[in-house]
Amino acid sequence: MTNLSIETVSALEIVDCRLEPTLRVTVRTESGASGTADVPCGRSTGAHEAVERRDGGSRFNGKGVADAVEIVNEEIEPTLAGRDVTDQRAIDRALVELDGTSDRSRLGGNTMTGVSLATAVAAASATDLPLYRYLGRADAGSLPVPLFDVIEGGELAESGLAFQEHQLIPVGADSFSEALRMSAETYSLLGDLLEERYDARSRNVGVEGGYTPPLSDPRDAFDVALEAAERAGYGGAFALGIDAAATHFYDDQTETYAVLDEPFDRGELVEFYLDLVDAYPLVSIEDPLEEDDFAGTAELTEAVDAQIVGDDLFTTNSDRLRSGIERGAGDALLLKVNQVGTLTEALEAADLARRNGYDIQVSERSGQTPDTWLAELAVGLSATQIKTGVTRGERTEQYNRLLEIERDRDTLATLSEPPWS
Ligand code: PGA
Ligand code: ZN
Repeated sequence: MTNLSIETVSALEIVDCRLEPTLRVTVRTESGASGTADVPCGRSTGAHEAVERRDGGSRFNGKGVADAVEIVNEEIEPTLAGRDVTDQRAIDRALVELDGTSDRSRLGGNTMTGVSLATAVAAASATDLPLYRYLGRADAGSLPVPLFDVIEGGELAESGLAFQEHQLIPVGADSFSEALRMSAETYSLLGDLLEERYDARSRNVGVEGGYTPPLSDPRDAFDVALEAAERAGYGGAFALGIDAAATHFYDDQTETYAVLDEPFDRGELVEFYLDLVDAYPLVSIEDPLEEDDFAGTAELTEAVDAQIVGDDLFTTNSDRLRSGIERGAGDALLLKVNQVGTLTEALEAADLARRNGYDIQVSERSGQTPDTWLAELAVGLSATQIKTGVTRGERTEQYNRLLEIERDRDTLATLSEPPWS
């Protein structure tokens, strides 16, 4: 046995930013290196995501993960003990085999994600590399462009907006730190503007730390966000993005979408997006249609001059991404490790995306902790984009880690070039 052999794998039930239980997993090697990773959790989840293991019952209103902790300690540790911590593929394969289901429901996608990520963190520590460098080897390139969800709606806030995220994208920035500063200045002025125009409660933030003004038309959100950018002296330096998360305002009985007062059918919603792209600097649209509408998404991708990102559409799953690629649905992959359950599978999806000309946007979940593996993963993958909310510590820690990486690595002082650059 080498000193890279795994000695222990353990888990602890902790709470995420919503005070809901999640897992903190630690992998330790015989040499004494260790790595810990926290598992994120979505609210606006896709139907095709890996299933989480939750206890049910009354404890934590059914959301406890005590069973998952026991699975890690009793079942996963004996399976992984003695394996080389740097053989991520073999470890993830062993997890998939041990689970034995197609939807990860036995061990739980959350359990597997925690073990898989903690393995990588431990391996980076055992080999004395920062995680982004371990994940990216020599290739870890430029820093991702951040997309700031400055106005929230949908499942993430009670603002009245159907679209879940209205993002400001600092397309005019030359470096990550400049992108962050421009966005921070604009975010603050946007708060003032919302208070002037609506009410002080607009400053209340949603799950991802974006504002929640009482709006119902996304064009009002765009107008006020762009006006804040103007006020901050950055007119033209910001573009817009949305995560429509359309599944969550789709009615499958009537096959219509509740965006404005009158329900839209698919064709009308596609027209609405085309009009928005004509009228605004809208360069990125995530999940424009319900999560199984590959044909409609392909139609929009073909017709529109904006990036189309698949989140609920692909669920970081190579099979679903392959279907999308074959049909021309979308041109960017939203990457969330816990949607699929292991790091290896997420990296395979990223590889498939890249080989087919799809951009990669690494993403947080609405349930996060301040663990910064997400920022490391974005850099390690050379993802062109990162989506990790706006304020609240579990989001800002990702930005702070990216600032450190920018400082530490001169070669990373440049920003990536997403398709709109
Ligand atoms: P979730 O939302 O983390 O609740 O899934 C974020 C998103 O839809 O991108
Ligand atoms: Zn989404």
